[in-house]
This record gives sequence, C-alpha cells and structure tokens, in this order.
Amino acid sequence: MTGINMRSLAVLMIAGGLALLAMLLLASLAEAQSDPNRFNRLMKPAAERNAPPPEDGIHDADSPGTHLLQTPREAFDALPDSKSGNYVQWNAAMDEGLIEPRNSLTMVSTPPIVLDLNIVREVKGSMPDVVYPHKQHTQWLDCSNCHPAIFIPQKGANQISMASILLGEKCGVCHGKVAFPVSECRRCHSRPKEQTAAN
Ligand code: HEC
Ligand code: HEC
Ligand code: HEC
Repeated sequence: MTGINMRSLAVLMIAGGLALLAMLLLASLAEAQSDPNRFNRLMKPAAERNAPPPEDGIHDADSPGTHLLQTPREAFDALPDSKSGNYVQWNAAMDEGLIEPRNSLTMVSTPPIVLDLNIVREVKGSMPDVVYPHKQHTQWLDCSNCHPAIFIPQKGANQISMASILLGEKCGVCHGKVAFPVSECRRCHSRPKEQTAAN
C-alpha cells in the first residue's frame, strides 16, 4: 500500500473508532446523569465539571456543611493544568510537592509501596501502544485496588479493549470516574509505533 492509502485508511479507522466512542459515550452519559458515581462523571460538558459542592450532584445540597466546603475551582487553581477531566495533572501535582495525599486513614506515616514497573500493551492498528505505569498508580493506590479483582497480576493475562474501558471496566473502573477520562488518548497511548518503510 502507498503512504497516502495507509494514511487515508488510518483516518477512516480513527473516524470509525470515534463514531463508536461517541455512541458509547452518549449511552453512558445518560447513565451518569441518573447516578453521578457511574462512569463518565469526568466527561460531562466542560461547564458542568468542577461545580461547587452544592451543585455537583454528589454532595447533599440540603446539608449546611456542604456549603462550607472549598470549591474545586479554588482548590485546584494552583495545581498543574490538564486538558480535560477535572483539569488537574494529579501525578505532576504530587511530583512537584504541591499535594501530599495521606497514605491511609489510620496509619498516616506508613509510606506507600511504590512499584516502578511499566507494562506495555501493544495495540493493533495505527494507535500508539499503551504504557501502563505502575509507579504513578502505586503512589496513590494500594495493589489490592487492582489485583486480583480488576487485573490478574501477570503481563498479557488480561483482555483489555477500548470498548470495555468505555463501559467502565478494566482501566475504565477509574478512568473517566476518578482519574483522567478516555478523551485524553495520548496519555495512555503514549508509545509511538516504530516507523516502518510504509509510513
Ligand atoms: C491501577 C491498577 C494497578 C495497581 C494499583 C497495581 N497494578 Fe500490577 N498490574 C496492573 C496491570 C494493568 C498489569 C498488566 C496486566 C496485563 O498485562 O494483562 C499489572 C501487572 C502486574 C504484574 C505482572 C508483571 C509481569 O511482568 O508479568 C505484577 C507482578 C504486578 N502487577 C504487581 C503489582 C504490585 C506488587 C502492586 C502494588 C505495589 C500493583 N501491581 C499495583 C495494574 C495495577
Ligand atoms: C484503581 C483505579 C485505576 C485503574 C484501574 C487504572 N488507573 Fe490509571 N490512574 C489512576 C489514578 C488515580 C491516576 C492519577 C490521577 C489522574 O491522573 O487523573 C491515574 C493515572 C494514570 C496515568 C497518568 C500517569 C502520569 O504520569 O500522569 C496513566 C498513563 C494511566 N493512569 C493509565 C492507565 C491504564 C492504561 C490503565 C489500565 C491498564 C489504568 N490507568 C487503570 C487510577 C487508575
Ligand atoms: C485510560 C487509558 C486509555 C485511554 C485514555 C485511551 N485508551 Fe485506547 N486502549 C487502552 C488499552 C489498555 C487498550 C488495550 C490494549 C491491548 O490490546 O492490550 C486500548 C486499545 C485501543 C485500541 C485498539 C482496539 C481496541 O478497542 O482494543 C484503539 C483503536 C484505541 N485504544 C483507541 C483509543 C482512542 C481513539 C482514545 C481516545 C479517544 C483512547 N484509545 C484512549 C487504554 C486507553
């Protein structure tokens, strides 16, 4: 195939993929509206994200305590920006020492077990490969958040697809809900494919 054909094929595949993503997103948006803790909370229209606590659909608007809480926009102002979700690069915020999350509700001083291990998942087609970084996750999360319920701890042992992620499974248990949403393709698909003669 010529370079041009490869390119138009790639464009078609991306367009098809995006149409599918859009359909799944619409379905899950409807779901998210009925239950704010469902998948895609972070993919609400931009203007509705980071709403003040009484309006966010999560906190009890009738409770006086809700009105005392700092608004996310104010709290996030000094943190490094991201393009979507709740607009914060949380790992960068921690690396820069701007936030220091507690490791445990009870044992405040117990340091987390950080595992510096990247898992590369090769992706068929034109999308760059996915690099899953243990380091950044285990700075926040205990192993038991993922192993063994979400992922068997063995490289390649888990079937992961974009469809399952969009439906709130696998990476989608968190991404789109409490971590940056699926719209930020390149943060997961971060390892470019090796250049071949065809491109
Ligand atoms: C946010 C989710 C998540 C957390 C938290 C997490 N892991 Fe993993 N782990 C994964 C994924 C995803 C894989 C890759 C599975 C695959 O490729 O099918 C993996 C793979 C592994 C593997 C297999 C590596 C290999 O080369 O076969 C081990 C071992 C492992 N994890 C240990 C840990 C330990 C120890 C912790 C805590 C310090 C931890 N993981 C925390 C998601 C997580
Ligand atoms: C148990 C929850 C959970 C699961 C499951 C999970 N993540 Fe994450 N992930 C997080 C959190 C929390 C962060 C940090 C907050 C943020 O960046 O929004 C994060 C951050 C990341 C980052 C950014 C790291 C950085 O340096 O900025 C990447 C990349 C990532 N996740 C990829 C994945 C992939 C790929 C999977 C599935 C194989 C996955 N995650 C599964 C919770 C999760
Ligand atoms: C939270 C991390 C994450 C984000 C964000 C993400 N992906 Fe993926 N994507 C994955 C993982 C993991 C796989 C499975 C790779 C494998 O085969 O093991 C995957 C697979 C794919 C595949 C291969 C076919 C399939 O369905 O498995 C395509 C195409 C794809 N992603 C496109 C996209 C596009 C386009 C975006 C942005 C709209 C995106 N991805 C955002 C993690 C992510």
